Amino acid sequence: MKKIQISPSILSADFSQLGNEIKRLEEGGADLIHVDVMDGHFVPNLTIGPPVIKNLREYTKLPFDVHLMISPVHKYIENYAKAGADIITIHPEATENLKDSINLIKKLGKKAGVSLNPETEIKTLIDEIEHIDLVLVMSVNPGFGGQEFMPEVLTKIKELKDIKEKNQYHFSIEVDGGVNFSNSKIILEAGADILVSGTTVFKENNGDIKTNIEKLKSI
Ligand code: DX5
Ligand code: ZN
Repeated sequence: MKKIQISPSILSADFSQLGNEIKRLEEGGADLIHVDVMDGHFVPNLTIGPPVIKNLREYTKLPFDVHLMISPVHKYIENYAKAGADIITIHPEATENLKDSINLIKKLGKKAGVSLNPETEIKTLIDEIEHIDLVLVMSVNPGFGGQEFMPEVLTKIKELKDIKEKNQYHFSIEVDGGVNFSNSKIILEAGADILVSGTTVFKENNGDIKTNIEKLKSI
């Protein structure tokens, strides 16, 4: 039986209480903490940077699954590694050399993730795929929580699963954006290993995080 993991996005958390919110996520059974970093340039929104991540590090031992929606990204990777990121996920459009950026993340002892926007094809990362630890499939256009899931990405998830199984690659498939109780089953059946969720985890069932995480995992 495949182990399903939930990586709640703190983008939907109370930003005035981020430390306590992370504790709530851990108590509620989160497997990872998805940290959405936005620069107001690669995406039309601005969130947090390395100093905040550094301060949040002491609130949990859970892996920080850091999604860098920043461009250019290469020169900032080390800052996020030092701040306490465990997985560092970048967008191929944000680096001049994807191979160099992946190598840098791994040289820093972190897991390397690559994120595909809905319109970005698998071929942009195929040459590096054997060195990638996580493929983050965006099921919304990045920048905001609370958007509608784009079902057309299910084909991409299935294709990634086929590539992984045919070649025995080790990367995890993580899906991010609009994941909720009505689509989590079909996303997992398509091949996802990890579900990112902000709105559903924090807002459903009067914010009962434990119930929401368990419900997302149950297929
Ligand atoms: C969007 C972020 C997602 C988002 C998911 O750019 O990358 O992680 O926060 O939020 P929900 O689950 O609310 O769609
Ligand atoms: Zn994200």
